[in-house]
Amino acid sequence: MLIRETRADDLPALFVLRGQTRDNALTPEELAGYGITPESSAAAMQRGEVKGWLCEVDGRIVGFASGDREGGEMLVLALLPDFEGRGIGKALLGRVVAWLQSLGHARIWLVANPDPDVRAHGFYRRCGWVATGEMINGEEVMEYRGN
Ligand SMILES: CC(C)(COP(=O)(O)OP(=O)(O)OC[C@H]1O[C@@H](n2cnc3c(N)ncnc32)[C@H](O)[C@@H]1OP(=O)(O)O)[C@@H](O)C(=O)NCCC(=O)NCCS
Repeated sequence: MLIRETRADDLPALFVLRGQTRDNALTPEELAGYGITPESSAAAMQRGEVKGWLCEVDGRIVGFASGDREGGEMLVLALLPDFEGRGIGKALLGRVVAWLQSLGHARIWLVANPDPDVRAHGFYRRCGWVATGEMINGEEVMEYRGN
């Protein structure tokens, strides 16, 4: 298992993976509907606005996460279903949080599905995130408070 920083040429594979998660899957076509494409993400990465990490197992990309430099937001965390429960989500999330902390953000936040039946619900709480009560487009806003 290898965790490394995401490169622009990884992005097409990450967009495919984003459509294969057990919960909250979004296909490349659906993301394009929001104006989010591998090309737009590569441009944001090259401008230094976004930074991410991914996990490879036996040379295959199985998960990734990224954050937003300016806003202090944890943007996305996605993992293939067969690789859940091995600490990979926590490791990727930790990289993004450490980077956002290193930038001096007082508030590190994300939006997540409020459904308690999705794995992410308990996962974020276990990893030191707290729901603020604020909702954005039906998703709950959570802030990192640490463990
Ligand atoms: C949610 C997700 C990121 C979790 O990643 P993961 O690798 O399966 O989780 P980890 O194995 O790193 O778990 C870290 C810790 O959280 C705990 N945990 C995970 N899910 C939990 C849950 N639902 N309730 C309570 N604790 C949970 C684990 O037991 C582990 O605890 P430990 O540190 O004491 O060992 C991953 O399953 C995923 O990407 N799912 C699909 C897509 C998705 O929903 N993404 C999130 C929003 S876009």
